[in-house]
Amino acid sequence: MCGIIGYVGKNEAAPILLEGLRRLEYRGYDSAGLAVLDGGIIQRRRRVGRIENLYELLSVEPVHGSTGISHTRWATHGAVTEENAHPHLDASESLALVHNGVLENYRELRTELSRAGINFRSQTDTEVLACLIGLEIQKNGPITPESFRLAVERSLRRVKGTFGIAVIHCKLPGFLIGARRGSPLVLGIGSGEHFLASDVTAIVGHTREVVYFKDNEIAEITAEGFEIFSLTGSTGGSVEIHSVDFDAEAVELGPYPHFMLKEIYEQPTSLRETMRGRLSHEEASAKLGGLNMSNAELRAIERIVLCGCGTAFHAALVGEYILETLAQIPTECEYASELRYRNLPLPKDTLVFAISQSGETADTLAALRECKRKGHRALGICNNVGSTIARESDGGVYMHAGPEIGVAATKSFTSQILVLSLIALLMGRMRNLSHSQGLEILSEIEALPEKVELVLENSDYISAVAKKFARAPYFLFFGRQFNYPIALEGALKLKEISYIPASGHPSAELKHGIIALIKENIPSVIIAPEDSVFEKNLNTIEEIKARNGTVIAVTTEGCDRLNGIADEIFFVPPAPEYLMPILTVIPLQLFAYHIAVEIGCDVDKPRNLAKSVTVE
Ligand code: F6R
Repeated sequence: MCGIIGYVGKNEAAPILLEGLRRLEYRGYDSAGLAVLDGGIIQRRRRVGRIENLYELLSVEPVHGSTGISHTRWATHGAVTEENAHPHLDASESLALVHNGVLENYRELRTELSRAGINFRSQTDTEVLACLIGLEIQKNGPITPESFRLAVERSLRRVKGTFGIAVIHCKLPGFLIGARRGSPLVLGIGSGEHFLASDVTAIVGHTREVVYFKDNEIAEITAEGFEIFSLTGSTGGSVEIHSVDFDAEAVELGPYPHFMLKEIYEQPTSLRETMRGRLSHEEASAKLGGLNMSNAELRAIERIVLCGCGTAFHAALVGEYILETLAQIPTECEYASELRYRNLPLPKDTLVFAISQSGETADTLAALRECKRKGHRALGICNNVGSTIARESDGGVYMHAGPEIGVAATKSFTSQILVLSLIALLMGRMRNLSHSQGLEILSEIEALPEKVELVLENSDYISAVAKKFARAPYFLFFGRQFNYPIALEGALKLKEISYIPASGHPSAELKHGIIALIKENIPSVIIAPEDSVFEKNLNTIEEIKARNGTVIAVTTEGCDRLNGIADEIFFVPPAPEYLMPILTVIPLQLFAYHIAVEIGCDVDKPRNLAKSVTVE
């Protein structure tokens, strides 16, 4: 949700900022802009649309200088226009600011500033902040790095809402300010240069040494050093320097046409990484030290709440089945956006998991905070190391799936389910699972990556079927038990990247209304592996066929009972019911991908979407 990058050093800022923006484009792609300091002048360039448009503009109107900031926008306040694109300037055009987040009281502040004679040129909350800082500077005499930082601090204390910002001033070349509250911001430490970014992927080509800003921190940054201060006046703790565990190659496309396809194909590897070092044959269990809980504490848990948004919520739904089956712990799932405002009665021995690939989703973070405030132990299941949810939770399990750039979540979904399976194994072994049952589960988990490889080998057939159905006006997805969430996820993947309406349902709900939609040109995708509900799913298929519907089935390799009934069949290798969703989702990811490509959609940058929803 909006990407920002700042640079101060000895090199030309613009190419570094543009490259960073290209890597951050998945966070928003409505418009983009940059501002670079050159001899006491702010040179600003902005363009509506993709980063390519900004590249084009800069090739005609280049900018020079080694201090700069830039932004790729996902609009919240104000339409997608050049005036609303960042960076924004203050009224005297002395400072430039980029911002990720939402300032909730910007209307009141705007009215106040308008009364003071300021004419706004955009409809954004960000310009209000820029002007507020500009006025603060004017009140305080000659500008110095310190007076600039203090003016930013005083202004930030007046705003309500969330921000990750980078600011420069025309009279302070070689000086950059960054601050955050609620929106991610990271400082990259180079040699004789420093970077600011909303996401490490933007700067990993330059440095892997980073400092993650904590909420309410503000930094003065120069080419040679940086100093971090607290916005709340508290004396800050020591600065922790982290080393990023992936390199620039991990965020490149390589031979793939799209990040989504790359990430679908990475799943055998990402699953191996998720389970690496976490399987204990000796104990026939999982080792998850990051939970920060003793066996006695884990044993005392009476209820689990899983929360997340979008795809992460679907992983939670699968996790509910797995935890109840393997560990027999009552589990419920909540959309994080609902949980944060709900007064859910929970027993005191409730364990909450906030599931989030980015670790920055605003609703999931708020749900985590609310549960912690109520005194529950709240853990994170995140992919991004050092993300806010990872840092604010009482502990958790990293997915280690590697950076996910495609806006449509794929490998993070299967890694989330795997993490939940490991948690279920660990907690199940403390309750009802024997040593031999634990060993069996471990060997099934270990077999997963190779089975995913086998599913991926069917890509050509899935692509051919996708092409055949790519012009259908609507798709229905059905699944039961463990695979009901996969029906939801299959529909979500299709909707978000191909814009074809689709809905997911529990198979048995067909006859309670949805059956009215069945007709030949509305395909039904039914996830029906050979499991305890296979016969039930078979009935659903028969009911659809009896009404002239078209059926695309996902079933188990070797099952011939759908031959001659289903119109198309995607096979997956056999696996126990609780792990099957990790396999059955793969053909649906590929199916959605190939349909979107066939009808000419921009798979990695779907309409209106952005990865990492850091606003409410
Ligand atoms: C769907 C998708 C979104 C995210 C959701 C949560 O493909 O990507 O639905 O799953 O926005 O994001 P995280 O997991 O980062 O909290």
